[in-house]
Amino acid sequence: MKVFVTGGAGYIGSHTLVQLLAAGHEVCVFDNFANSSPVALDRVRQLTNRDMGLVQADIRDADALCDAVTTFAPDAVVHFAGLKAVGESSDLPLLYYQTNVSGTMNLLAAMDAAGCTRIVFSSSATVYGEAHYLPFDEDHPIAPTNPYGRTKAMAEGIIGDWAKATSDASAVLLRYFNPVGAHESGRIGEDPQGIPNNLMPYVAQVAVGRRASLQIFGDDYDTRDGTGERDYIHVVDLAAAHLAAIECAASTSGCEAVNVGTGQGVTVRELVAAYERASGRPIATNVVARRSGDVASSYAATTKAARLLNWRAAFNIDDMCATSWRWQSTNVDGYGAGETQ
Ligand code: NAD
Ligand code: UD1
Repeated sequence: MKVFVTGGAGYIGSHTLVQLLAAGHEVCVFDNFANSSPVALDRVRQLTNRDMGLVQADIRDADALCDAVTTFAPDAVVHFAGLKAVGESSDLPLLYYQTNVSGTMNLLAAMDAAGCTRIVFSSSATVYGEAHYLPFDEDHPIAPTNPYGRTKAMAEGIIGDWAKATSDASAVLLRYFNPVGAHESGRIGEDPQGIPNNLMPYVAQVAVGRRASLQIFGDDYDTRDGTGERDYIHVVDLAAAHLAAIECAASTSGCEAVNVGTGQGVTVRELVAAYERASGRPIATNVVARRSGDVASSYAATTKAARLLNWRAAFNIDDMCATSWRWQSTNVDGYGAGETQ
């Protein structure tokens, strides 16, 4: 199958490329490297012993995107490209709407021009907002609490409308919970620029000595140990969910939203303990005030993914920490983008 992958050089994209290439698919990556490195694609080539097409351009450039899609003529599109920092999305909302919403519209128009009717979209559990009940199932109300989340909810709605209006269209909206971990080789992994916003990359940088101490954002939540509880999903499991979603799109029509998580909540303190076991290093922590906008607990209902995609998570938090540590300890500065602190 020919698969066009926007944002393929990024964290989740690069792990998905490994599996797409290993499965024999022909791949074209479209990425402007706004938040990634071409080195990631070199590593994917080394890991798979296969090559892929590459167009270095911006999804906001509708003409460049349309040229790339029509030239490659894909059977399916996987749409990772986008901006994902919650705090930045409040400071630069128009950049987020242009990239995540207009970029998605440009992609759908390009697919129309190329006669491509299958798309798998990177959405987020953040579209649910405050939990009315747990676990989050796909029918939970959509009420994002920040501009980033609203761009994902809008893009989901636009893809749904496009699917209704396009004969034979098939769209799978994958709502990721908290992707972490790395490829078992330790050759590709998450390489955040600047100070990590998310827990696992921050913990990894404390373990490797790049940062002194983890700030725990609140230990007075209504959870087992008072710290925030999340559904961490191994990026290799997440990549496999994309291949399953492409298969699903090949045999169904319409638009389906599907959670991608393990269904298991892990607290901050539990994750830190798992990382200490994996790395053999102590992780210094200090408790500070809650982070604004955080919820106590978030975890997925996983039955729809099992039913529709025949996919389930295989890896646990120890696997996630072990692979994260392998990547972090052998690539202390990530792909070499340099330090900010
Ligand atoms: P990432 O930043 O590592 O990857 C995104 C890729 O898109 C990067 O390679 C970046 O260079 C590229 N890109 C950004 N803007 C672009 C533009 N205008 N034109 C072309 N390429 C552009 O992020 P990721 O963690 O791999 O996330 C991939 C997708 O999954 C994103 O859409 C993100 O919102 C979504 N998502 C991520 C998480 C997470 O925690 N990582 C959770 C839920 C959803
Ligand atoms: C964040 C995003 C969310 C996104 C998700 C994807 C915010 C507010 N939300 O959510 O939109 O979908 O990532 O992965 O950024 N924590 C600490 N110290 C830290 C960092 C985090 O204690 O330095 C705690 C948090 O309070 C939370 C847990 O660790 O309880 C996980 O945090 P994080 O990795 O940022 O993920 P989310 O909060 O789920």
